[in-house]
Amino acid sequence: KNSSQPQSSQGGCPVHHSGGSCPASELAAAFDPFEGPYQVDPAEALRWSRDQLPVFYSPKLGYWIVSRYHDIKAVFRDNVLYSPRNALEKITPATPEAMKVLESYGYAMNRTLVNEDEPAHMERRRALLEHFMPENLEAKQEMIRRLTREKIDGFIDRGRVDLVEDMLYEVPLTIALHFLGVPEDEITRLRSFAVAHAVNTWGRPTPDQQIEVAHAVGRFWQYAGEVIEKMRADPDGQGWMHYTLRKNAEIPEVVTDSYVHSMMMAIIVAAHETTSLASTNMFKTLLTHREAWGDVCADPSLIPNAVEECLRYAGAVVAWRRETTAPTRLGGVDLPEGAKLLIVQASGNQDERHFEDGDKFDIYRDNAVDHLTFGYGSHQCMGKNIGRMEMRIFLEEVTRRLPHLRLAEQEFTYLPNTSFRGPNDLWVEWDPEQNPERANPALRQGSVHFPVGAPSRKDIARKVRVTQVRHEAEDILGLTLEDAKGRPLPRWSAGAHVELCVGEYERKYSLCGRPEGAGYEGAILREEGGRGGSRHIHEVVREGMELKLRGPSNLFRLDEEASCYVLVAGGIGITPILAMADRLKALGREYVVHYAGRSRASMAFVPRLQADHAGRIQLYAKDEGQRADLAAIVAALPEGGQIYACGPARMITALEDLTAGLPENTLHFEHFSPHHAGLDPTRESAFEAELKDSGLTLSVAANATLLDAIRAVGIDIASDCCEGLCGSCEVEVLEGEIDHRDLVLTRAERAENRRMMACCSRAKNGGRIKLA
Ligand code: HEM
Ligand code: FES
Repeated sequence: KNSSQPQSSQGGCPVHHSGGSCPASELAAAFDPFEGPYQVDPAEALRWSRDQLPVFYSPKLGYWIVSRYHDIKAVFRDNVLYSPRNALEKITPATPEAMKVLESYGYAMNRTLVNEDEPAHMERRRALLEHFMPENLEAKQEMIRRLTREKIDGFIDRGRVDLVEDMLYEVPLTIALHFLGVPEDEITRLRSFAVAHAVNTWGRPTPDQQIEVAHAVGRFWQYAGEVIEKMRADPDGQGWMHYTLRKNAEIPEVVTDSYVHSMMMAIIVAAHETTSLASTNMFKTLLTHREAWGDVCADPSLIPNAVEECLRYAGAVVAWRRETTAPTRLGGVDLPEGAKLLIVQASGNQDERHFEDGDKFDIYRDNAVDHLTFGYGSHQCMGKNIGRMEMRIFLEEVTRRLPHLRLAEQEFTYLPNTSFRGPNDLWVEWDPEQNPERANPALRQGSVHFPVGAPSRKDIARKVRVTQVRHEAEDILGLTLEDAKGRPLPRWSAGAHVELCVGEYERKYSLCGRPEGAGYEGAILREEGGRGGSRHIHEVVREGMELKLRGPSNLFRLDEEASCYVLVAGGIGITPILAMADRLKALGREYVVHYAGRSRASMAFVPRLQADHAGRIQLYAKDEGQRADLAAIVAALPEGGQIYACGPARMITALEDLTAGLPENTLHFEHFSPHHAGLDPTRESAFEAELKDSGLTLSVAANATLLDAIRAVGIDIASDCCEGLCGSCEVEVLEGEIDHRDLVLTRAERAENRRMMACCSRAKNGGRIKLA
C-alpha cells in the first residue's frame, strides 16, 4: 500500500511498508492459485484483496496479483509498460528432466500474437485480422448450428448426458479446426495434447507429471509441424492457417516459418479450450440460476447478453499475465522492472467498483460486456466473436429444445491451474417424455439469428413496475419501481443511476432510495426546455405501469476513504447527493450537505433531509435571498476532504475554478444535463482520424461522431451515455488538436490534449488527429 523498495521477487513481501509489517502478509502468503479457495471461486478468493490490497505479492507464486477492475484494465491497456511476453511462460518452471524431454522432440515454441511485443505484434495482428472480421464470421453460423443440432439429435432422447463429452468439447474443436483449415479427422489426438498444454503452461505439475506432460507437449509440437506440412501441400486450402501460410509465403519476414509452427500449436488451444470451457461454465451458471434460465427459454432475444454475463461471471480465462518493462506504480504499490503480474480477470469482473452488485449473476446487466474475459486493448482476443457466436447458438438450440434441462447431482472437478477454468464434466438430466418437440416437431428447426459482435446495449433492459408515484416538490415527480416479476432488484451504491425507457424516451435518473429498500426510488424534474422525455414521463407514468429500465450503473462513485465530505447539490442534483448522505451517515463519516434551489417549494426531499441529516444540512432558497457561498465552502474544506457535487453546469464550473489548486482527488461531480443534444451538421466540420494501432485513416462526416466512424470499421469501442458524460468512450490522442465537448475531463486533462471522448469531441476546425 505504501511506498516500496522492491527487493526480491521470491520469498516474503518485497514491499517496504512504512507502517511496519505487511498489512496483508498472512492473506498474501496464504494465497495459492493451484488449490483451495482460488480453485473453488477465484473472484471470491480475492475479495479481501479487492477491498484491502488490490496489488500484492504472492511469495508462493513469485507473482504480483492484481485484483481490481481498473488496475487490470490499465495493465491490459498499456502493452509496452506491461509486456505480454510472459503470457505463455510455464508458470511452474520445467525441471531439467522435462526440458530434456522437450528438447528430444525439437520443441521450439516461439512467441505468437498473444505474447509478443510491439512493433512486431501489431504488424502481424493486422496482417492476420481479415478472417476475423464480422462478414467472414457470419458465414460460419450455419455450420455451428448444424453441428450443434447433430449433437443434440444424438442425445435428446437419452434423458441424461455429460454435456462436455457429448457436445461442448467436440463442437468448438471441430469449429476451431474448420476455421483454421485443419483436417477434422485429428480430433482424438488433439484432445490429450490440449490438456497437456494447459497443465504445462498454467498448472503445477509434480516432477513426474512434468515428464509425462513434456512428452505430450513434444508430440503436440511435432504434430503441429506435420499438420503444417500437410497444409502446405494444399496451397489453395481454406481457413485461417492456410491464409497464414500464404502470408508466410508473401511476407516471410513478418509471418516467419517458426511463427507459423508455433501459431499452429497455440491457436488450437486459444480457439478451442477457451470456448469449450466458457460454454460449459455458461450452462452450469444458467442452470444454477433457474430464473435466468427460464427467462432465456421464454425469450431468446436475451441470449446475447446472457452469454456476456456468463463470460463476466464465470469466464473461461480467469487470469492472464504481464511483466513490467520499467518500474511503475499500480494500485498504490510500487512495482520494480521485471515484476511478473497475474492479473485476475475473474476478480476484476466482479469488482463492485465497476459492476454494481458485482457478485450477483444478472442477465439484464447493461454493462456485462465490459468484462475482461477476452482481455482488453491491443491484444484483446481476436476470436471473441467466434466464441460469442458459438455460445449463443449452443444456448439457443438447447433452451429451445430442452427448456426442462436441469443439473444432475454431481461433484464438479477442475484442472488445477491459474488461468483456464471450467468443470471437466457437466452432467445434466431431463425427462425425454417432456421434450417439447415431441408435441411440436417444428421446434427442431426454429432458430434466431444473432448478428456477429457484442450485444447492443439498447437491447438490454429489465422490466419494472411503478409501485408508487409521489409529488416530491414543485414539478418533481417521485417514483418507486420494483421488479415486474417481484424479484429483488440488484443492489446499487450511492451515486448510481438507472436509465428509464418510457415510450420512445430513454432518460437517466440517479437513485436516491435506500439501497436495502424493496424498490428503486428516483425523482424526475419536469423540464419544459428539455427534449420532452421528462414531460412525457410526468404525463404518462402511473402506478401499476410496466416500464423498461437499464442499469443500475455508477459513474459518480463515493470514495469511502476520505477524511470528510462536503456534498453540494443544486436543484434536482439532490438525488445522488441524498444517497451519498445516507451512505456516509451509515458509515459514521463526517459530512455536510449544501443544497441550493430556486425556492423551497421546488426543492425535493427537504423534510427527509431534515429528519435524517439534522444538523448537517444547509439549505439555500434563491427566492428567499439565500445563496450558497461556494468559495467559503471550498475554503473551509479540511485537508483530505472531498467534495461531491451534482447540479447545473455553472455550479460545477465554479467549483472547478475554486478547487483548481487543490489535490486532484478533491472534486467529484456529475452534471445532470448535457450541454448539447445531437450534432448540427450545418455548424460542424468533417475531420480525419488516423488510428495508429490499426493503420487506418477514418473520415468523420459533419453529421457523425468519431465513435460512429470507429465502429463503422468493425472496431469495438465501449460507450455508454453517448453524450460526453460517462467517460467510457475515451480514446488516446497522439497528435492533433481537440475540440473537447465532454463533461468528463478536467481542465488540466483537456489542456494536455492526450485523450478525448469519441462520442462527442472532435478535431479542432476540421483538422486531422492521430489516435493510439
Ligand atoms: C487472445 C480469451 C476464443 C484467438 C486471447 C486473450 C484472452 C482470450 C484472455 C488474451 C487477451 C489479451 O492479452 O488482452 C478467449 C476466450 C475465448 C476465446 C475466453 C472463448 C470464449 C478464441 C477463439 C479464437 C481466439 C475462438 C480463434 C479462433 C485468439 C487470438 C489471440 C487471443 C489469436 C491473440 C490476440 C493478440 O494477442 O493480438 N483470447 N479467447 N480466441 N485469442 Fe482468444
Ligand atoms: Fe459516455 Fe462518451 S459514451 S462519454
